[in-house]
Amino acid sequence: MKREILILKGNIVFTQQPDRFDVYENGCLICCNGVIEQISSTIPDEYKNCEVKNYGSDLIIPGFVDLHTHASQFNQRGLGLDLQLLEWLEEYTFREESRFCDLSYAAAVYAAFAEELIRQGTTRVVVFATIHKESCRLLIDILTQKGIGAYVGKVNMDSNCPDVLKEDTEQSIKDTEELIQNWGDNPLVKPIITPRFAPTSSKRLLAELGKLAVKYMLPVQTHLSENKNEIEWVAELFPEQREYHRVYAHYQLFGQTPTLMAHCVHVTDSCINDIHKHHVTAVHCPDSNLNLASGIMSARKLLDAGVQVGLGTDIGAGHSLSMPQTIVKAIQLSKVIQNPAYTRPLTLAEVFYMATKGGGQFFGKVGSFEPGYACDALVIHTGMAPGAGLTSLERLQQFIYTGDSGNIAARYINGREINSAAH
Ligand code: GUN
Ligand code: FE
Repeated sequence: MKREILILKGNIVFTQQPDRFDVYENGCLICCNGVIEQISSTIPDEYKNCEVKNYGSDLIIPGFVDLHTHASQFNQRGLGLDLQLLEWLEEYTFREESRFCDLSYAAAVYAAFAEELIRQGTTRVVVFATIHKESCRLLIDILTQKGIGAYVGKVNMDSNCPDVLKEDTEQSIKDTEELIQNWGDNPLVKPIITPRFAPTSSKRLLAELGKLAVKYMLPVQTHLSENKNEIEWVAELFPEQREYHRVYAHYQLFGQTPTLMAHCVHVTDSCINDIHKHHVTAVHCPDSNLNLASGIMSARKLLDAGVQVGLGTDIGAGHSLSMPQTIVKAIQLSKVIQNPAYTRPLTLAEVFYMATKGGGQFFGKVGSFEPGYACDALVIHTGMAPGAGLTSLERLQQFIYTGDSGNIAARYINGREINSAAH
């Protein structure tokens, strides 16, 4: 196989570990066929004739990984956020999602969503679509064509929702399996089993989705313990299960295959134990926690219990696809959370890790610049910020807190440069 070499030169910053940044000033990031081979301070002899993309004093950081968001809620950002979860679903979200039976509407929204991901420097994303198989297919194709790494979930719901979104249980399973079987050979965009959450699922639907996950060895994503009324409702609907997460566990949707549980705000110690024991990844969605007044995930407590925690934008409950802004919000929330036992705030390194290597683990070797990792990288030009005299690490800090998409000068996914239409 031909060795295609890419060398990116600049000030390289990433997190191998959550407790500190690795900084290589004026480093060369050497990639072969989209995979990192090494970082070196000078170009080794064997690469002397290869082209070098020299970004001067710009920063080179891993692309961002958004582990939980709803592509179908892109047009709904900022709407109805005076409501809490269940009312917000009823009054805004279900109505918006019902529009995705219209393929031309879906195409427009999904194209804008994908473009915004690129603009914001998100290189890998795990998304919810809607129940609609055809528009889900469109989302898969749009992400593929743009070259974004993704897991895409066709949403399943057959209970406790408006008729326009209520699937026939057997049809829901059939559509999901058909989509999986006809997915195509796509290394970058893959399927994920996606029951919306327990309350919109019949027991049969959950059971069959669990079987599909195991049969096709597919990952699973859903929502867990976001809002107190939601939790009470789950207890009424599934009285035979002692706790919310046990509903998913009972139906093979809790760690039997790689699993993402968004929110985990109101989780008991025994639930945290089970999350850890089953290697489930908890996804912290700070904007969403705040906007819907759901409460605040105790990220520190989960981390101390050894749980893998990733970060999600959760639009439209979150209002922005910006991962840097999501990082800032997670840190700020950890400073005000009312839990006297866990007052140690999250650090920038820890949350940057969640947004890169931590979340990236869900995709394999993604989110770091260690040898063997996918070459997903952003070039950050901080010239616009008042950054004179700052170290590379300080410039990264300033970009995360005060920068925006205008500071992102280039984006690479698997070593391939992705262009943003906005630039
Ligand atoms: N729980 C069930 N559906 C949703 C959704 O669309 N957004 C959020 N934030 N929580 C949910
Ligand atoms: Fe969500």
